[in-house]
Amino acid sequence: MSKTTRIAMIVLAAIFVIMAAVIVGLLVFMRNQPMQVRGVQPMVEIQAQEPDSSLWGQNFPNQWSTLLLTEINDVKTNYGGSQPFSRIEWDPRLVTLFAGYPFSEDYNEERGHRMSLVDVRETMRISEKTPATCYSCKSSNNPSLWAEMGMARYDAMSFAEMTPRITEPIGCANCHEAGTMRLIVTNPALDEALKAQGKDWREFSRQEMRTVVCANCHVEYYFKGDGKYLTFPWANGTRIEEIEVYYEDVGFTDWKHKESEAPMLKMQHPEYETYTAGSTHYNAGVACADCHMPYTRDGAVKFSTHDTHSPLFSPSNACGTCHTDVDYVTGRVKIIQDTVAETMFLTEDAIITAIDAIKAAAADPKVDAEKLEEARKLHRAAQMRWDFISAENSMGFHNPEEALRILAASTDLARQAQIMAIDAMP
Ligand code: HEC
Ligand code: HEC
Ligand code: HEC
Ligand code: HEC
Repeated sequence: MSKTTRIAMIVLAAIFVIMAAVIVGLLVFMRNQPMQVRGVQPMVEIQAQEPDSSLWGQNFPNQWSTLLLTEINDVKTNYGGSQPFSRIEWDPRLVTLFAGYPFSEDYNEERGHRMSLVDVRETMRISEKTPATCYSCKSSNNPSLWAEMGMARYDAMSFAEMTPRITEPIGCANCHEAGTMRLIVTNPALDEALKAQGKDWREFSRQEMRTVVCANCHVEYYFKGDGKYLTFPWANGTRIEEIEVYYEDVGFTDWKHKESEAPMLKMQHPEYETYTAGSTHYNAGVACADCHMPYTRDGAVKFSTHDTHSPLFSPSNACGTCHTDVDYVTGRVKIIQDTVAETMFLTEDAIITAIDAIKAAAADPKVDAEKLEEARKLHRAAQMRWDFISAENSMGFHNPEEALRILAASTDLARQAQIMAIDAMP
């Protein structure tokens, strides 16, 4: 063995010894490290249908803190936003259109989810006769109350009787199942309305549920019978004509118009029905939550903002995920809404002209009673169509073609009502 080989072997052995020492040291170091914990540790167990959102919020602080922002939004957009401006001052034609009904006296723009209780309790539309049913889409106390007493007993109570049991505005329990956190149908009326159409939401995809969960509340509904049982008029389908057939079949009327004496129907916020009536976005598989609850970031965490509001506050977030030219699409929103509003005002003028003609005919003692009744029916049909678009909160954006189609039909029916009333006079 040469001298150099011997030196090489000693160096090699030394390297082995050092390496072994390093490995042993590393193993000892790793053993003494604290136990790994998961990034998101559930801290509290949430009871089924827990009404108190702050408890859920301990597990999901980002969703909770963004939900709380719906209390303080105070931006106005051209036709929407979160300031509770008076829709009657904005469009005084509503006083005539809703004559004899509380909407002619108090009708404000809606606000964010956490304002739901303040706003329902403040409105002058509430009286001693108001049923508890009016709380149905305002509170996260509802799912547990419905489970406990059943919806029929809930709806048979009065608003005032129910008030002490309603302590929470809209919250987690209105949309999520505790534990799994999946989106669910919480309103029995929605479950029953889907069933009447042969549908079971439990079979819906996650993307479908991102729209259907909003239909717990953002829909047309009525209070059925003396028990004021909350019912969606969807047995024939969710298009306006199908809803009309439903109401004609059950013979439902919300109020008698003070001037035309027509038996009227009031439409509530039918966002779901309008959006799903073949709109471009719906057909493309886009959900309500895509525009109203887009993903946001907090550092490395990505979550759905629960600050549900007009997408026009933050269009880069709401539209920018799918549309590269955000200025172009928000410009389109303005054009669509201005067109629909202009058309809607013309429809209102046509309905008011019909109301005046019916009033004049009714004042004539020699009026043809049958034709007068026919004119009133046409007033009812015209106004429910106009109201469907007027009460829908996007000023036509959710489905521009459908909005203009329905307004055109409404104007036509109003003109028919006017002609029939004139014809009823001798
Ligand atoms: C493609 C995007 C998009 C989708 C999908 C969408 N919306 Fe909207 N929504 C809008 C825009 C834009 C407005 C108009 C906002 C304004 O005028 O300030 C609006 C308005 C609203 C408003 C009134 C907001 C306000 O500020 O007054 C409500 C309520 C609403 N949408 C609910 C829904 C529901 C429920 C669905 C699903 C059935 C839905 N939206 C689907 C874009 C969308
Ligand atoms: C108005 C209905 C609604 C309410 C109220 C609501 N959520 Fe959500 N939440 C949603 C929707 C829609 C999604 C999106 C679900 C999906 O993509 O599958 C979501 C998603 C989530 C997720 C999944 C992660 C994410 O951010 O996408 C968590 C966790 C969550 N919500 C927690 C909460 C908590 C906690 C509350 C109450 C403080 C709450 N949510 C209230 C509708 C709601
Ligand atoms: C439990 C009933 C309920 C559910 C579920 C619900 N909403 Fe609402 N939403 C309301 C009520 C009630 C208001 C009006 C509150 C007020 O004016 O005080 C409202 C208001 C809104 C507004 C207007 C906010 C503003 O600042 O003007 C938007 C937008 C909206 N909801 C979108 C949605 C979307 C999208 C979903 C589904 C992910 C949804 N909502 C689910 C009941 C509900
Ligand atoms: C989840 C994806 C998605 C989001 C979010 C989204 N869009 Fe769209 N949008 C589409 C798709 C898909 C189409 C239809 C295909 C196309 O023409 O690009 C479309 C079409 C449109 C059109 C043309 C409609 C027509 O009838 O030709 C307008 C205008 C529009 N979007 C506006 C908006 C606005 C405003 C927002 C935000 C409030 C928005 N979109 C959010 C996916 C989206």
